[in-house]
Amino acid sequence: MDLELTEELRLLQEAARELAEDVLKPAAARADREERLPAEHWRRLAEMGFFGLLIPEEHGGTALGNDALSIVLMEVNRACASTGVTLSVQGSLIPGPLVKHGTEEQKRRYLPRIASGEIVCAYALTEPEHGSDAGAIETTATRKGDRYLLNGRKAWITNGASAGLLLVFATTDRSLGSKGITAFLVERSGSKGLSAGKREKKLGIRGSETVELALEDVEVPAENVLGQPGQGYKLALETLDGGRIGIAAQAAGILAACLEDSLRYARERKQFGKPIAELQAIQWKLSNMAVDLEAARHLVLRAAWLRDAGRPHTKEASIAKLFASEAANRAATQAVQIHGGAGYCKDFPVERYYRDAKITEIYEGTSEIQRIVIARQILEP
Ligand code: CAA
Repeated sequence: MDLELTEELRLLQEAARELAEDVLKPAAARADREERLPAEHWRRLAEMGFFGLLIPEEHGGTALGNDALSIVLMEVNRACASTGVTLSVQGSLIPGPLVKHGTEEQKRRYLPRIASGEIVCAYALTEPEHGSDAGAIETTATRKGDRYLLNGRKAWITNGASAGLLLVFATTDRSLGSKGITAFLVERSGSKGLSAGKREKKLGIRGSETVELALEDVEVPAENVLGQPGQGYKLALETLDGGRIGIAAQAAGILAACLEDSLRYARERKQFGKPIAELQAIQWKLSNMAVDLEAARHLVLRAAWLRDAGRPHTKEASIAKLFASEAANRAATQAVQIHGGAGYCKDFPVERYYRDAKITEIYEGTSEIQRIVIARQILEP
């Protein structure tokens, strides 16, 4: 890669690229077709330490940081976006807030098992009636002695059926609006009343698991509250600042794949007696992709660096996610266009990139939500 990385990050990038090229990429079309990821890949990601990049050494990780995770995510998503999103949830959305807000007991109990891949994690905020307006969630948590009873429904939950540990957001006091939301660490084992519904049939990232969850009197010990009661919404949004950098990295990875495949095809495909790469109309498309890729990578790493440095980065995370996701969709459209009829068929991976790219403009905050976040930040006095 053309960005200046430290030796440590460069080696990590090389390792991620090797795994992506040798293991993930050859299996990506099948994962898309069969709507499941090979279990073996989970084990490989864990072995490489990719689930522990935000987890301190004493809890089984390497704590290399969000820049390291972003670099890995760019490589993984270049090969397989379905694997990319599962890694993003496991590597960031759960360990991130656990490291920051967890009690020593919670960290000791969960972090090593997250890093090793022993437990799969899921982030359960969205509900059927509350997606963008996450502060209005209706799942309730009612205190009964030393436990809470959780009731409600969650929707579009990545890893939701496989998860052994779920970060569930529920309201402990509806009269307080979003200030009544609390975050809970819910273990699946022993949790009666927690069930996964239908697995969504998706346009893209089809290898990843997306389900609805029903919670009926799910008992959660009070010691499994993450952070303070009533602080769950802030915890959710602060976590999404990190998650959005991950989705921006996912988009940059898809974009890189679009450019790479388009360059190859444009050099090989001949029309009018010469490779189409010699046609200016095609060159302009390739140049636009290259510019977008360079910008997206820089925005991702800048936001990651700010987050690692403990500096404000809400705006930068949203800018990175907004730009990279829209750029990935532009690139995917042009990659299909460059491939022509061939790009419209499943014989070439660009057809999959086109479908996979779309979700990056939707999850972890739609492009419209990112614009709201950015506007609020720049309008702040
Ligand atoms: N970090 C920390 N605190 C934050 C914050 C942040 N980034 N953003 C806001 N807050 C705080 C505010 O300061 C405020 O606190 P006070 O009340 O003490 O002042 C509180 O949180 C509420 O903030 P807002 O009033 O700005 O919140 P809002 O209700 O107006 O909503 C929103 C803002 C931007 C629309 C927000 O709801 C949002 O981002 N919605 C999108 C939801 C989303 O991204 N969902 C993704 C689901 S997970 C997923 O997609 C995972 C997956 O599939 C892989």
